[in-house]
Amino acid sequence: MMPDAALRALDAEVEEALASGEESALSILGVGEISVVLGWPQGAPRVAAKRLPLFPGRAAFDAYAEVLGRYLAALRSAGLSVIETELRAVVHDDGRIAGYCLQPALPAESLLHRRLRAVAPSSGLPLVREVVEAAQRAVGERVGLDAQVANWAVDDGRLLYLDVTTPLLSREDGSSELDPNLFLAALPWLLRAPVRRFVLPGLRRRYHQVRSVLLDVCANLIKERLEAWLPAFLEAANERLASPLGADEVRRDYARDARTWATMLSLRRADRWWQRTVRRRPYRFLLPRGITR
Ligand SMILES: Nc1ncnc2c1ncn2[C@@H]1O[C@H](COP(=O)(O)OP(=O)(O)OP(=O)(O)O)[C@@H](O)[C@H]1O
Ligand SMILES: [Mg+2]
Repeated sequence: MMPDAALRALDAEVEEALASGEESALSILGVGEISVVLGWPQGAPRVAAKRLPLFPGRAAFDAYAEVLGRYLAALRSAGLSVIETELRAVVHDDGRIAGYCLQPALPAESLLHRRLRAVAPSSGLPLVREVVEAAQRAVGERVGLDAQVANWAVDDGRLLYLDVTTPLLSREDGSSELDPNLFLAALPWLLRAPVRRFVLPGLRRRYHQVRSVLLDVCANLIKERLEAWLPAFLEAANERLASPLGADEVRRDYARDARTWATMLSLRRADRWWQRTVRRRPYRFLLPRGITR
């Protein structure tokens, strides 16, 4: 999808931006709660490059590769269309590995949240029903899904799933197949233990039950300023749920979730300031900017 030399050059640009704190030269296609998606080549991007947290070495990278492969296979065998995703490595001088998930860069207008913003809300829209059906097919104790509208694109009228960089696979005992320490490394160290203990189990539960996945999708509509679509999503969800979702429950959930992520992001920003200004060390992660809640 992208020559090695070009990927190494992109990685060098990311490292440079991290070292200087000057991120404005990077071509940014999208931001999630965790990661930033870069476009390559600049100007007319064909590839979306999702940088993963740095891996301490080859073994950790290979373990991630294996879990990612199984996650893609699990979603596809549940009948979801998942965007073509290629995992690549850039080995740094100190032996650490920058991992990138490469995907075809899709036009912004094809992303589901953008598509919904462009048309008047209507119940019974096939795409809305498709989100609900996809969640119902894929989600279970072993396989999780983050079905929020920004994680889908519309390709030829069908939904294509994009958000695979955090593979949500659980073992029989409920523990995560993905080493949570990799992603916890993006947090200030003081926070890692409490997040591992109190936040991760909740996130894991949220993405492994159809009802809570759909509750999350609905709550996220508010964050995306798509609240006008809430009745259509509630209707589609409640056709399938034994215990229906209500608008009040969705609003309460949104408020709680927004607080969690906002606190987490402001602590990460504070940590970045501390590392750069006081410790005079480069901060290793690109932080999402300008998320409105
Ligand atoms: N292939 C793509 N082409 C264009 N834009 C994309 C593509 N993939 C993702 N995006 C945009 O970037 C945003 C963030 O991507 P993604 O959902 O993969 O990251 P994330 O939510 O941070 O993921 P994770 O939860 O795994 O860290 C998406 O919501 C979407 O708007
Ligand atoms: Mg996402």
